[in-house]
Amino acid sequence: MPHTVENRINHDPPAEEAPRRSFLNWIWGGLGLAVLAEMVWLAGAFLRPRRRAVRGGGFGAVIDAGPVERFTRGSVTAFPRGRFYLARLEDGGFLALSRECTHLGCTVPWDEKEGVFRCPCHASVFDIRGDAIHAPATRALDLFQVDIENDTVRVDTGRRRRRSAFQASQAAYPART
Ligand code: FES
Repeated sequence: MPHTVENRINHDPPAEEAPRRSFLNWIWGGLGLAVLAEMVWLAGAFLRPRRRAVRGGGFGAVIDAGPVERFTRGSVTAFPRGRFYLARLEDGGFLALSRECTHLGCTVPWDEKEGVFRCPCHASVFDIRGDAIHAPATRALDLFQVDIENDTVRVDTGRRRRRSAFQASQAAYPART
């Protein structure tokens, strides 16, 4: 039988198909949203800074340095695995200083006798607060985040802060100093 214009354009679905299509559209819409949500979550997980769950670990982790009273005022304690020094200032404040020289990155040892950090590579010198007091370094040693909870000092070696010089607000203090 030859096709006529009428029987070619008469493709309206039967009335009972409309709810079915609507249901399928709803399913596809839901799946699309689920896929989109997963992609957003994956992108966020990729871009989010990595947080380490392990406490007391090495560099990059949150390190339990110990109880406040373990550190005498005016002292510097090395944490080789965390790659930092914990300096306790004379006023009781704490600073976690990166051991990397801000000139070209050599490791700076603490000179207990002189009370300074002295870089073996090009002779930069830093005081106990990390301030550069002798060139060629021109800025202070970087800091790691220090938190004191329940009289325990914790250093987050995943949170490093660059600075030009020491400021009082950079030190962390226990509840009682
Ligand atoms: S790397 Fe320390 S002074 Fe050059």
